[in-house]
Amino acid sequence: MKFLGIDLGTSSVKIIVMDENGKVIENVSKNYDVSYPHVGWAEQNPEDWWNSTKEGIKELVYGGNIKAEDINGISFSGQMHGLVLLDKKDEVLMPAILWCDQRTQKQCDYLNNEFGQDKLAGYTGNKALTGFTLPKILWVKENRPEIYKKIAHIMLPKDYISFKLTGKFSSDVSDSSGTLMFDVENRKWSKKMLDLLEIDELTLPKVYESWQVVSNVSNEAAEETGLSVKTLVVAGAGDQAAGAVGSGTVKSGVLSVVLGTSGVVFACDEKFSVDKENRLHSFCHANGKWHQMGVMLSAASCLQWWVDNINMDIAGDAFQKLLDEAEKAPVGSNKLLFLPYLMGERTPHSDPNAKGSFIGLNITHKRGDMTRSILEGVCFGLRDSLEILKSLNVEVKEVRVSGGGAKSRFWRQILADIFNLNVDVINSKNGPAYGAAILASVGCGLYKTVDEACGQLINITDRVEPIKENVEKYNKIYNTYTSLYDCLKEKFQEINDL
Ligand code: XUL
Repeated sequence: MKFLGIDLGTSSVKIIVMDENGKVIENVSKNYDVSYPHVGWAEQNPEDWWNSTKEGIKELVYGGNIKAEDINGISFSGQMHGLVLLDKKDEVLMPAILWCDQRTQKQCDYLNNEFGQDKLAGYTGNKALTGFTLPKILWVKENRPEIYKKIAHIMLPKDYISFKLTGKFSSDVSDSSGTLMFDVENRKWSKKMLDLLEIDELTLPKVYESWQVVSNVSNEAAEETGLSVKTLVVAGAGDQAAGAVGSGTVKSGVLSVVLGTSGVVFACDEKFSVDKENRLHSFCHANGKWHQMGVMLSAASCLQWWVDNINMDIAGDAFQKLLDEAEKAPVGSNKLLFLPYLMGERTPHSDPNAKGSFIGLNITHKRGDMTRSILEGVCFGLRDSLEILKSLNVEVKEVRVSGGGAKSRFWRQILADIFNLNVDVINSKNGPAYGAAILASVGCGLYKTVDEACGQLINITDRVEPIKENVEKYNKIYNTYTSLYDCLKEKFQEINDL
């Protein structure tokens, strides 16, 4: 048996082939561009996603050792919240507006203030954020009325690929949770939201649980891709839920932390629960449960920025050289703090104007202190989400960390010390794509449940334990870190307006 996991990301589509033992036997990745037509806007062409996905599948089916007839199922992980619009001939109406696009502040202010955050959270479990899908629909209504009139189908990025493969309009509960039109508690579209905002439910896809089969590959898609019409297409999940499946974060007590471009703290909930202030997102999980999550907009990308924009002259492996220097700096970076808000911040501040900052610089500081303070600042930012989870009595016993930053054992040690928790890495390095392949295997009946599949396939390969004296030092520094945003909030706005 073979299963395809397709991870439709922001910079590329990654496709893996998993066998019935959970081993990844092939993988391919195809890049595409993001366009930024105005400051704060981010768009992609859905046809580019499809062309890249098709190319990747063809490479696997025609070029590799995989026969199309051997692929039992396909499923997806997708960049979340993006708005894809089709007309009644199923043609794309405009470029997709992505999760990181910030154009909808006005629509969010309307939803949170006039429509009302309580009502919104009551119907959907969440408050409006610029990245979410509904504010984007309202933006199109207001700013592109000629397009709005022609909308026949509204969907999320990965659901466009599923449509191209099956001819069916489908989505899953985890990805739909990020639209702000979904009744997360009851796992269905919120009729109240749709009625109040005059959105026709018929324009929205049919929603499945993430492991459910949507359809077979259509004749047309089989011809275009080389896939077999016998292959089943399984609904899939938003990238965070798929990534959590891929790391085995499927029961309470286990926390998934992603040190990727963005930073994520993700806790599985056995039942639906919501933070009264809506600082965390409350979404459906891909295993029939729910999850709460905090999302930082810049995590490992802070180190990437430090390498690409500030330390670009380092010869050789710049990351390793900087990390080696940072490891020699003391805990607390010689009293230097870094605020990681290089792209504004989502959790906990929901502030597109927040700015990155070094605070406490003095004449003795060296580059190693600065690099270390970046690594620490990102972990303090993640701790903000952890503290909210703890205040909601969410049980946290261990952490599974993934993403580019997790490769550094040193950074994992800082995370363990700042969280005061064991931090583990697991055997799979394929994150959300692996989660998608697992969902396909469950849909095809190899496992009865997502939890059973994760139990069999995912093992811990390394553990870092917190060092007591570091924990104590970091607790003190965290108290200062977490008060800095409030002191600077108005100044960030002023800087913005200069
Ligand atoms: C989740 C989120 C990101 C995007 C891009 O809320 O915004 O995970 O899906 O990866």
